[in-house]
Amino acid sequence: MKKNDLVTFQSGFEKARAVQAMFDGIAQRYDLMNRVMTGGQDVRWRRIAIEHAQLPAGGKLLDIACGTGDLAFEALKRSPGLVVGGDFSYEMIKLGAAKANGHDNIIFLSADGLNLPFRDGGFDAVTTGFSMRNVADIDQFLREMVRVVAPGGRVVILELTPLKTPVISSLFRFYFHRIVPLAGWLLTGDRKAYTYLPQSVDVFITAQELKEKMQRTGLIDVGYRTFSFGTVALHWGTVA
Ligand SMILES: C[S@@+](CC[C@H](N)C(=O)[O-])C[C@H]1O[C@@H](n2cnc3c(N)ncnc32)[C@H](O)[C@@H]1O
Repeated sequence: MKKNDLVTFQSGFEKARAVQAMFDGIAQRYDLMNRVMTGGQDVRWRRIAIEHAQLPAGGKLLDIACGTGDLAFEALKRSPGLVVGGDFSYEMIKLGAAKANGHDNIIFLSADGLNLPFRDGGFDAVTTGFSMRNVADIDQFLREMVRVVAPGGRVVILELTPLKTPVISSLFRFYFHRIVPLAGWLLTGDRKAYTYLPQSVDVFITAQELKEKMQRTGLIDVGYRTFSFGTVALHWGTVA
């Protein structure tokens, strides 16, 4: 492993274990750090992501790798029958479940996105936010999302994306690689987790490549848009 390289893992199992431990460790300050790091913009991205899920009133939505549930709670505003938040970090879903206090139609459970404990076609839509960089096998994660959605339902993915525009890229590199780890350290006490964050974006596939993977998984009408100078991408596709 290279010096300062937090994104090289010996195996998928090693990555999954490291990611799970990392999110368990930063869970308490995760939401605060998101608001600070994005200047509150993530709230807007999440709202638009849920609009793209096109969840029918009374429908069922799965938010996989839900963390503390901010996308799942956004989905609650659209009168669903049921929102399920699933994640393999117990500390993250524990906080999500605490925030659900008083809501009957949202539940949080422990689930591995690579092997979902749900039947085929049981959901009207599935969403995931900022998880793709963290999963050990993107293709398997996509296959599982597609499997659990009924034909005609949407798969929606919100994720940071590597920047290719030289000037903006160097500004954001400075922000991501210098400011974010420092802010993460101050707010969560974990500098390593917020050093891993920009590194994981650097080695992640482009928005166009993710679109092509979604198409290869069998999704139709796949599209994407970007936010905030191209640093964040929102992808959607329909289950055939
Ligand atoms: C950056 S957080 C995103 C949390 C939330 N979706 C959000 O939008 O804020 C990434 C989450 O992915 C989860 N995760 C990564 N791989 C996973 C997997 N294979 N199965 C379930 N959760 C996973 C982590 O535990 C973590 O909570």
